[in-house]
Amino acid sequence: MSDLTNEIQRRRTFAIISHPDAGKTTLTEKLLLFGGAIHVAGAVKSNKIKKTATSDWMEIEKQRGISVATSVMGFEYEGYKVNILDTPGHQDFAEDTYRTLTAVDSVIIVVDIAKGVEQQTRKLMEVCRMRKTPVIVFVNKMDRDGIDPFDLLDELEQELKINIRPLSWPIDMGFNFKGVYNIYEEKLDLYTPSKQIVTESVEFKDIDSPELEKHIGEKLSQKLRTDLELIKGVYPDFDVNTYLKGDIAPVFFGSALNNFGVKELLNCFVRIAPSPRPIQAEERSVTPETDPFSGFIFKIHANMDPNHRSCIAFLKICSGQFERNQNYKHVRFGKVMKFSSPTAFMAQKKETVDEAFAGDIIGLPDTGNFKIGDTLTSGEDLHFKGLPSFSPEMFKYIENADPMKSKQLNKGIDQLMDEGVAQLFTNQFNGRKIIGTVGQLQFEVIQYRLLHEYGAQCKWEPINLYKACWIESDSNEALENFKKRKYQYMAKDKEGRDVFLADSSYVLQMAQQDFKDIRFHFSSEW
Ligand code: G4P
Repeated sequence: MSDLTNEIQRRRTFAIISHPDAGKTTLTEKLLLFGGAIHVAGAVKSNKIKKTATSDWMEIEKQRGISVATSVMGFEYEGYKVNILDTPGHQDFAEDTYRTLTAVDSVIIVVDIAKGVEQQTRKLMEVCRMRKTPVIVFVNKMDRDGIDPFDLLDELEQELKINIRPLSWPIDMGFNFKGVYNIYEEKLDLYTPSKQIVTESVEFKDIDSPELEKHIGEKLSQKLRTDLELIKGVYPDFDVNTYLKGDIAPVFFGSALNNFGVKELLNCFVRIAPSPRPIQAEERSVTPETDPFSGFIFKIHANMDPNHRSCIAFLKICSGQFERNQNYKHVRFGKVMKFSSPTAFMAQKKETVDEAFAGDIIGLPDTGNFKIGDTLTSGEDLHFKGLPSFSPEMFKYIENADPMKSKQLNKGIDQLMDEGVAQLFTNQFNGRKIIGTVGQLQFEVIQYRLLHEYGAQCKWEPINLYKACWIESDSNEALENFKKRKYQYMAKDKEGRDVFLADSSYVLQMAQQDFKDIRFHFSSEW
């Protein structure tokens, strides 16, 4: 195996996703502890936006600022290079999370045993399903009472719409939690409630051995044997390829806070999780190991300080090797660029790097050259697919509040949209601009940033909109007819694509019923 192939194949780039409070930050921190990237618990700044701060978005931006450092956390573990991509916890930034999911090769979903599958997890899983991203589920907080594990497995299958296969199995829970039987490694992992001591495990290939009783007593031994029997009968054997295809999700149980089950999760993860996978560009499929350097921008983080109007553009390397000060092609501009201070993220430090490989994420200092979805290559014209925008949930007209500054306003809106802060639709009937967001916070962020970074003042006006959906049809005539009939409700997105603005779910339903030749899409990629 060549050095390059080896470098790429040992990379594991993934994101941890969960509903807020399920334990994502805690699990991330424990993984970093095992990876030796940090040495004490509590070192990871929570990227979680505390509930008390939800109305204070400046505070949130500050926290987002802090989170640049923890946006990507890389560490070495048993010969593997692990890259964890952090995702914002606050649901108003869900769009950021969706985009981050386009840059990972697999995902770990954290579920709270007491709460089961929650709303945000469901939504994020939809994105994983769409992209066929391999998923591992970690059921957290086993030191607390919760849902019966078999019921939880049913819930996972139904709610996440994916087949699952437990690879560890809990022995009781809450106050009586004794540990798990690690099906993957055929070990008995015994639980000691402690935040510092790592699991004690006993190799245990024969579950029928009377030794089991010595560890967990008669009653629990019987139950464990019956449970395992049932699992064998009900769930298919674990097959790595089915997992890699995104068709089955292995499930682990543990308690991140108590360091329990985390190392086992990590051990299994590095072995079965995919290394960077081939990525489909519009032109062709790009292979990480054999193709020359290519990558795409999936996130842009602006510096909120008006004196330093710089951004960091986050690039996911899709193939080959990136080198500092090399010439690369910015495909949208058709121009050559080179980067003298690309940064990589090891542990919690951001440092300049000379080289990076497919699977890695690097930060490129930027002053407005990049927008989300931009491709960099060694020379070829490639466009990577798979960075969808989703139909926003909230809409407002954006109006100029200072007629002297309309140029600044338009420039500001343009750039903020390129950064992916929100989506812009221009109504074709009255020419008014509509901003669509996932949450209320974005409107405040936009208004503040327009003023402070561009010297432009905007005001918001209400618009009654339920959904914006992208439309297409095989018949040009049908499309033109629809646009004519609905001319007051037609808009263009930033790329000039046709968007239908439905003001109620009823209107949307009727349109879907009446115009059978039109396909309505709720994300910009189909
Ligand atoms: P998040 O990033 O998914 O939002 O969750 P986070 O890790 O911040 O965890 C949410 C809360 O759940 C935290 O408590 C954390 O300590 C707790 N927690 C995480 N894992 C476990 C576990 O295995 N068992 C139990 N019992 N609790 C767990 P908090 O009180 O909200 O925050 P903190 O003050 O402890 O930081």
